[in-house]
Parts: sequence; structure tokens; C-alpha cells
Amino acid sequence: MNVAVIGLGNMGTFHATKYASLPEVNFVAICDTSQTENKLAFGEITVPVYNSLNAMLSDHHIDAVSIASPTFTHYNVAKFCLEKGIHCLIEKPIATTAQEAEELIHLAKEKKLVLTVGHIERFNPAVLKVKECINKGMLGDISSVSFRRNGPFPPQIDDADVVIDLAVHDIDIANYWLGALPDTITGHKAALITGGRPDHAEILAKYGSTHVFFQVNWVTPTRVRTAVLTGSKGYIEMDFISKSIKYYESKAEFSNNRHGETIAKFQAVESQDIEVELQDSLEEQLRCFVGAIMKNNPLLVTPSQARDALELALKI
Ligand SMILES: NC(=O)c1ccc[n+]([C@@H]2O[C@H](COP(=O)([O-])OP(=O)(O)OC[C@H]3O[C@@H](n4cnc5c(N)ncnc54)[C@H](O)[C@@H]3O)[C@@H](O)[C@H]2O)c1
Repeated sequence: MNVAVIGLGNMGTFHATKYASLPEVNFVAICDTSQTENKLAFGEITVPVYNSLNAMLSDHHIDAVSIASPTFTHYNVAKFCLEKGIHCLIEKPIATTAQEAEELIHLAKEKKLVLTVGHIERFNPAVLKVKECINKGMLGDISSVSFRRNGPFPPQIDDADVVIDLAVHDIDIANYWLGALPDTITGHKAALITGGRPDHAEILAKYGSTHVFFQVNWVTPTRVRTAVLTGSKGYIEMDFISKSIKYYESKAEFSNNRHGETIAKFQAVESQDIEVELQDSLEEQLRCFVGAIMKNNPLLVTPSQARDALELALKI
């Protein structure tokens, strides 16, 4: 299976390096509109670099691409590739509007092609482990989830605000963990540094009786990527970067007070470290994409889920 990477910036370079190391694919070419090199080496593999998609496709048969060009190009580039019969992994977010996303989903279905989106955090082993903890009932009924995805300003991003760029990750994870879409979502976003494009936002969503808070910004001088989940049976603190999870099991005795209300007397509890088997999230994401093409394996991130995350982010 021949693969290529479109857009060789920060993210595209990671995709290219990873494809070069995957034995199940032939990594054959790169397309980047501003590259001046004719060839580039990734580990043991050297591939030709093209400035135009047409030129790349006239020289190579390409089965699948990773699209890691800027967000505003995703729709046009993916549409072009899907129309040529090429399977696509689009970096997140899927597109800039839900309608564009819908068109891509429709086109991929019509052409019987695999379309997925680089919501890489879904392959973070800590995210998968928290899902397992939820499914096992370790949290009981979840009252709240609170995400923080903060960090320094990314100068290369000039076509998306912080909600579209960062909050889509956590909105998608909340949908995945809670197995639903929110009934309501609202928030505030504003620009502290850019003077125009929002660079910080506070978002609140309601999934049935679970309240979810998302804080994203490009203002905090250090990278923070955390989630905390509180439920009737326990509490989880997880860190996306260190991939660590601390679990506190709730131990309480219930009785009634003089108004007939239920009250709880909590015992002091120690935290437990939940073991997380480390895996390379990007490698797993690319393997999932390739497995869906070659073996018809299910996708972990469907394009409809990516469209949902984008549509919700666009409401803020
Ligand atoms: N999944 C993640 O965690 C994650 C992290 C960072 C970025 N991203 C996404 O990846 C995409 C790229 O972000 P980045 O930070 O790598 O940007 P970047 O600016 O570093 O790289 C983009 C590259 O695309 C090239 N390019 C522009 N238009 C093109 C076109 N039409 N065809 C081919 N190449 C083109 C540019 O020359 C540049 O080299 C964005 O959509 C961003 O949201 C995802």
C-alpha cells in the first residue's frame, strides 16, 4: 500500500517519520506547497517532494494520504484526494464547517473509501484506560468532567481560533467517554494576545446529568493537559502528557439527616495509580487507518464523530 503525506510542517513531519518506520506501508512521496527540497530523508527512507498534488499523483500511484496541511485547506485537499480514489486521514479538525465535513463524509461513502481524522488523543493510552474505568463502573454516576488544555501560543497556527484548534480534542474525548453528544454547550472565548482570533476560552456542556467544563488557551506559559472526573463511586485525575491516572475510590456511609435528606460521611482514602500500558499514539492512529483500509478493521475515530466535535466547537 503506497502512502504519501500532504503538508510537511510540524504535524506532517511526525506523520512522515512514522510512515517511514511502518513495515505495512510503502511511504512514497510528500507534497508541500512551500518545500524547496526535491527529496527528503526520513530514517532509512528518502522520498521525493512535490509542490503540487497533480505532479505527485502523475508520478506515483498513491493509495492513502495523511493530510497535515493547514486547517483551511483540509476540505479542498481531501475532496481532491477522495475524488481520485485515495483513502484519507485528515489532521484535526476535519474541516472548517460542518457542511464541508458532511460533504467529505458523503464523498468517502460514495467512493467506498476510508476517511478518518487525526484526533490523536483518542489513541492516548490514558484516555483509553479512563474509558475502561468508566465502563467498569469505577466512577459510578459521573457528575462532572473538567478538562484543561492550556499552553504557549503556537505562532504557525493562523487560520483557527483556540476552540477550533484545541477544544475539539476534549469535546471529542467527552463525547467518547460519555458515549453521547451534549444536550447543551455554551462558553466564552476572547483574545488576550492576538487582538482578534480568540486565544482563550471557557466552555460548559451538559450531557444528561453530567456537567463538563473545558478550559483551553494559548496564554499559559507551560503546557497543561489534564482531565478530572468525579462520580458517585470515585474520582480520577489524569494527565494526557505523562499518561498517568490516579484513582480515588469513594468510601462513604449514607444516612438521613433531620430533613430526611441523604447525607454521606466520607472516609479518608489513598489514591491508587492505575497502570497504563504505554503506546505510541501516532503509530496506533496510523496503524488503525491502515488496518481499516487493508483489513476492513473498524475506525476508532469515525468522520461523523470528528464532524460532531467540530460542529460543537463552532457553537462557542
Ligand atoms: N492532532 C494534533 O494534535 C495536531 C497537532 C498540531 C497540528 N494539528 C493539525 O495539523 C494541521 C497542520 O498543523 P501544523 O502545526 O503542522 O502546521 P504547519 O504550518 O507547521 O504545517 C503546514 C504545512 O502545510 C503546507 N501547506 C500549506 N498549504 C498546503 C497545500 N494546499 N498542500 C500541501 N501543503 C500545504 C505548508 O507549507 C506547511 O509546511 C492543522 O490542521 C492542525 O490543526 C494537529
